[in-house]
Amino acid sequence: MTAAPPTVEAIVRAAGGHVPALLAEVERRLVALATGHGPVLAHHAAHTIAAGGKRLRPLLVILAAGSRAAARPELIAAAAAVELIHSATLVHDDVLDGASLRRGVPTVSAQGGRALAVATGDLLFSRAFSELTAAGSLEAVQALSRATSALAEGELLQREDAWNQAVPVERYLLRCELKTARLFEASCRLGALAAQAPAAQIAALAAFGRGIGIAFQLLDDVLDVAGPAALTGKHRGADLLDGTVTLPLILAGERDSALAAVDLRAITTAEQAEALCDRVAATGALEAAQARALAIVEAATAQLVPLALEEGQREALELVARSVADRKA
Ligand code: IPE
Ligand code: IPE
Ligand code: MG
Ligand code: MG
Repeated sequence: MTAAPPTVEAIVRAAGGHVPALLAEVERRLVALATGHGPVLAHHAAHTIAAGGKRLRPLLVILAAGSRAAARPELIAAAAAVELIHSATLVHDDVLDGASLRRGVPTVSAQGGRALAVATGDLLFSRAFSELTAAGSLEAVQALSRATSALAEGELLQREDAWNQAVPVERYLLRCELKTARLFEASCRLGALAAQAPAAQIAALAAFGRGIGIAFQLLDDVLDVAGPAALTGKHRGADLLDGTVTLPLILAGERDSALAAVDLRAITTAEQAEALCDRVAATGALEAAQARALAIVEAATAQLVPLALEEGQREALELVARSVADRKA
């Protein structure tokens, strides 16, 4: 819990000299794709892209591909496409979750209303698919399409489970997989596909991506309770306020029956949400959830062991896994 997570710079250094230019190219593509569609949507789509973000999914595409695939044009397309899908889902997710802060700035829905946010998200989705289709691999388009469907399914499950504190852990983990991990999985798969890796390697890298993706969401849910907003760029307790029951609350309820009996619908202000976050944290549930995430990351990292990866590629992927396990933002 106290270890400092590896930085993106350290991961990029480990991966090798081909990576910085690829990441810069992805940024240029992202801006071009987000802004080529009329001033209003372009403003909001570009705002979302420009607000930053860790760019973890494009990094996974590039790392899963390795240095030999660096010159392939479909690599940039795939990396830009996964980030556009991610940005689209965030814009829509903030509508669904009623969130007002994202990446440290007001969400598109807070700025321009729900309708504008829905349209902006749709635009980003459509640009992602057109980018990947233009790059030409049907298999890649299918992989991204599966991940996007899973994302929507995950959001639907989350709505079904809203306010239900008795939700089983397995169901919660399925939500993490659908909502978040499938896009991590697709990112690794797209990179490996661009590199024309052997089928077994594509499958193992995809499984690695899926594992770290589940842990990533689980720790996102820990950070929602732990905060602070200055680090996460999102309001603390946002999940509790919108009735999203996550592992920290489930585990806290097992440790403190008074917490299992709390009426979540009565939590209506940021102050009440923060106070409930403090109570959840006091049970030790955050550490227990972190331990669970760490075990998932370790199992995912084990997928890499038998693979014939480049040396820097292996090191960089392991560092990504560590950065997920130790994430603080
Ligand atoms: C946020 O993802 C949404 C989740 C899947 C939890 P990130 O934490 O990767 O968001 P950005 O891109 O860095 O803002
Ligand atoms: C992840 O769930 C959202 C998507 C995968 C779209 P969250 O609702 O926890 O993400 P944040 O916390 O808003 O970034
Ligand atoms: Mg959200
Ligand atoms: Mg969250």
